[in-house]
Amino acid sequence: MAKAKKKAAKPKKKATKSRKKVQQDLVANMKAWRKVEIASIASTGRVMEQTENPIVRLVMEIIQRDSHMHYRVQGWIADTLEGKSVSLTPDEVGAVWGMIEDHIKLEKKTLELADEALKAIGGAKGMLIQSYLLEYLMEDEKKHNLLLERLAAVQKGMYPYG
Ligand SMILES: [Fe+2]
Ligand SMILES: [Fe+2]
Repeated sequence: MAKAKKKAAKPKKKATKSRKKVQQDLVANMKAWRKVEIASIASTGRVMEQTENPIVRLVMEIIQRDSHMHYRVQGWIADTLEGKSVSLTPDEVGAVWGMIEDHIKLEKKTLELADEALKAIGGAKGMLIQSYLLEYLMEDEKKHNLLLERLAAVQKGMYPYG
């Protein structure tokens, strides 16, 4: 293999985005995302108005409530980037850690029960609605468990981006 005469020019270091630019971009993203959540809330409402089916209505309501929470969380993210001071320190989490640990036990129990319920259904016919809703519950409980696992990482001072 012929050796290249000239050393290939080092790729230019990617200009690191300034902290201010990162903040501005994130705020713009949160604002755009909030608009989508508002559209989602309206859209789920329209579907609910058009159907009497209780399962479709239930699913739309789940999404609508989640969209409300997403909207609030995006607001929090944007506010902190625009100067609102909020802290999340190992000490603050540590102050209620005992209670959170008790709560984690509850969340683990829900996973066991969801798992048992799904196993009980197995591949049984005629259980479409039940397995559809149980799978939703299982995913949601996994999400609660993961949120708390990450909070545990904050408590131990092991969460990156600190
Ligand atoms: Fe959402
Ligand atoms: Fe839960």
